Amino acid sequence: MSRIVYVNGSFVPEAEAVVSVFDRGFLMADAVYEVTSVLDGKLIDFAGHCVRLARSLGELEMKNPHSEAEWLQIHRDLVDQNGLVDGMIYLQVTRGNPGDRDFVYPGPEVMPTVVLFTQSKPGLADNPAAKVGWKVISIPDLRWDRRDIKTVQLLYPSMGKMAAKKAGVDDSWFVQDGVVTEGTSNNAYIVKGSKIITRPLSNDILHGITRVAVLRLAAEAQMEIEERAFSVDEAQRADEAFITSASAFVMPVVEIDGTAVGTGKPGQVVARLREIYLDEMRRAAV
Ligand code: PDD
Repeated sequence: MSRIVYVNGSFVPEAEAVVSVFDRGFLMADAVYEVTSVLDGKLIDFAGHCVRLARSLGELEMKNPHSEAEWLQIHRDLVDQNGLVDGMIYLQVTRGNPGDRDFVYPGPEVMPTVVLFTQSKPGLADNPAAKVGWKVISIPDLRWDRRDIKTVQLLYPSMGKMAAKKAGVDDSWFVQDGVVTEGTSNNAYIVKGSKIITRPLSNDILHGITRVAVLRLAAEAQMEIEERAFSVDEAQRADEAFITSASAFVMPVVEIDGTAVGTGKPGQVVARLREIYLDEMRRAAV
């Protein structure tokens, strides 16, 4: 089915959606993005994604082209026009098309390019992978030092996903200075007893919107949280491990570099967190 996508104020069939070859998003990865999940036609944690979008744009001295209310309307129109039930909305804002290639940022006369599209994933919340868990490998983190900004520079994460695919597993965990930073497109956690351990926020990782919600809900459920880095070795000896992201929600990790975590099967703490997260997010969806 042909999708209706959003480009710079217009809703058009995907085949008619056009961006210039001089767009800085294309030439220089000069762009930021967000991915928001949709369950039962409603947006999950939309406000959180809007806040992070504004922050990413601000860090790159880019103007936010829309208010939160306008972004919400565009998202909702896109859901309606595509009859989206379960899936994701991808949003990208680039520094626009200055008409030529130049390392210097263009002036304010150049408008940002805004693109949004839907990805249909029927039964997204019932992903069977959550019952078996992911296997991951660890690889060096060779990304730039501003991973807190959600830019479209996704070549290294893409290489990490390919390394995982070639190794016959589901994802790669990045390692820097002997400790895990995050997954290719998700935040990483381990569980020891009833304590959840995850890296504190810094420029080394993306400030996951799912991470904020999961840590809040875990604290409300009286679970203990320790924000500190952990090594692959410690993760392999943990009781449970998991990742969070807007598209995978809370996903158990059952094997790291060929070593089973805990029983090698998804554990109870992660299963409970996934359930709490999905229940609460469905309830608060807009
Ligand atoms: N990725 N870390 C990285 C490097 C990410 O790319 C993502 C999200 C996350 C989790 O953030 P959130 O909980 O806000 O989704 C952490 C999205 C889903 C993607 O690129 O498709």
